Amino acid sequence: MPITKICCIGAGYVGGPTCSVIALKCPHIRVTVVDKSYERIAQWNSSKLPIYEPGLDDVVQQRRNKNLFFSTDIAQAIEEAELIFISVNTPTKTFGNGKGRAADLKYVESAARMIADIATGDKIVVEKSTVPVRAAESIMNILRANHKPGVSYQILSNPEFLAEGTAIEDLLNADRVLIGGEESPEGQAAIEQLCQVYEHWIPRKNIITTNTWSSELSKLAANAILAQRISSINSLSAVCEATGADVSEVARAVGLDSRIGPKFMQASVGFGGSCFQKDILNLVYICECLNLPEVAAYWQQVIDMNEYQKSRFSAKVIESLFNTVTDKKISLLGFAFKKNTGDTRESPAIHVAKTLLDEGAKLHIYDPKVEESQILLDLTHPSVTAEPEHVRERISIYKDAYSATKNTHAIVICTEWDEFMELDFKRIYADMMKPAYIFDGRKILDHDKLQKIGFIVQTIGKKLIRSSISRVWGSQTQM
Ligand code: NAI
Repeated sequence: MPITKICCIGAGYVGGPTCSVIALKCPHIRVTVVDKSYERIAQWNSSKLPIYEPGLDDVVQQRRNKNLFFSTDIAQAIEEAELIFISVNTPTKTFGNGKGRAADLKYVESAARMIADIATGDKIVVEKSTVPVRAAESIMNILRANHKPGVSYQILSNPEFLAEGTAIEDLLNADRVLIGGEESPEGQAAIEQLCQVYEHWIPRKNIITTNTWSSELSKLAANAILAQRISSINSLSAVCEATGADVSEVARAVGLDSRIGPKFMQASVGFGGSCFQKDILNLVYICECLNLPEVAAYWQQVIDMNEYQKSRFSAKVIESLFNTVTDKKISLLGFAFKKNTGDTRESPAIHVAKTLLDEGAKLHIYDPKVEESQILLDLTHPSVTAEPEHVRERISIYKDAYSATKNTHAIVICTEWDEFMELDFKRIYADMMKPAYIFDGRKILDHDKLQKIGFIVQTIGKKLIRSSISRVWGSQTQM
């Protein structure tokens, strides 16, 4: 029987865009996205969606209240649906066993318990959240332990590979859709039903099916390998700075090897986002639990290298500014963890801001899509400061790059927003304190042009020619 009603528990960065695209491509399926947060659902039903994704507004506008619904009535949506996506957050545990590494499955468990409580008919339950290997077993245990006569469940794993900032494009043209399920006839039938949903726009050859555990592990493996590439090139950026090699040239030369390819080879201030770190930590924890300490240590190094890169960049800013930023005004351009999203989870900008604030700097911050309230929330979080009032006094948030950089000593580029490449840097230079510094943490600017204007420029993975200023101030300013 083809699926006609889908429920998605969790209206976040994954649940919202994924279901919007399903609704767009399958007008005959009624898709209801539910969340326990009234505020989030109200935003999904408003003209200002809770997340920024290029193309998302358009898709939602086309299908909302036709076959796409956002609701807090979780019970009704579960009861009606034949297929239920669990798309809730799976953050790193902050306390108890596995603290700081294991994935916290409390939201997945609570979603499974709701399904067990409410369902009165057969359901296909699909893990869309990124989970540890064998999480489907725990979901099944909850559902089977609450068995009701006439109700049977199939659990599928269907991890999401979209990237924030390109979510709609990624969903419309997915490299692959991965579906894992039981090898039983019932399991295979459920896989087939989900395949049929995706087949409305994804070619069948790009829909791959595996056993459940392979599917669960593939998502962790994909994120670990993507992050590993970033940490690899970032580690080489340090070698470049020490030797005179240029990491962009190295990345290009290496990436032209068809066995390697050019993607995820861009050195930067470090990776961020809600997934890479948490998923690798989760993988490390799983390896430790499986008594595979060498494998755990291997993947842990990807995280350690990222921490090193963020610290190295922040230290470079301070060192270049004559080893003190106390009461200096520094503008941070970009606060999101990458361009084309307003998401700040694990953003390297938070790390840079914290280091500069700890050293007594005053920060002028501008990001095209991050709300002021979010920046304040991130920088006054207990993990960033014990003195939130003090931090509030030291940060100002601006609505454009020109006012954010005015009268500041230095600009630090933390996010690779396209609009930063188009800025009138002559105008910016004229309005800044001198000597005026730019620290390009994303390698997006034309450094020669900036140096000609008069800026002292520092970036990642390139040994810069010493400026006359740094010569005057001696070796401590060398990079
Ligand atoms: P999110 O935090 O944006 O959204 C999760 C939503 O689930 C929240 O709105 C929360 O209120 C809701 N929720 C939690 N428990 C609930 C419950 N019991 N009932 C109803 N609603 C509940 O998280 P995001 O970013 O969408 O991630 C979801 C999952 O997808 C995670 O496992 C993540 O690792 C994975 N993922 C995320 C990607 C990303 O780029 N953000 C990409 C691929 C996978």
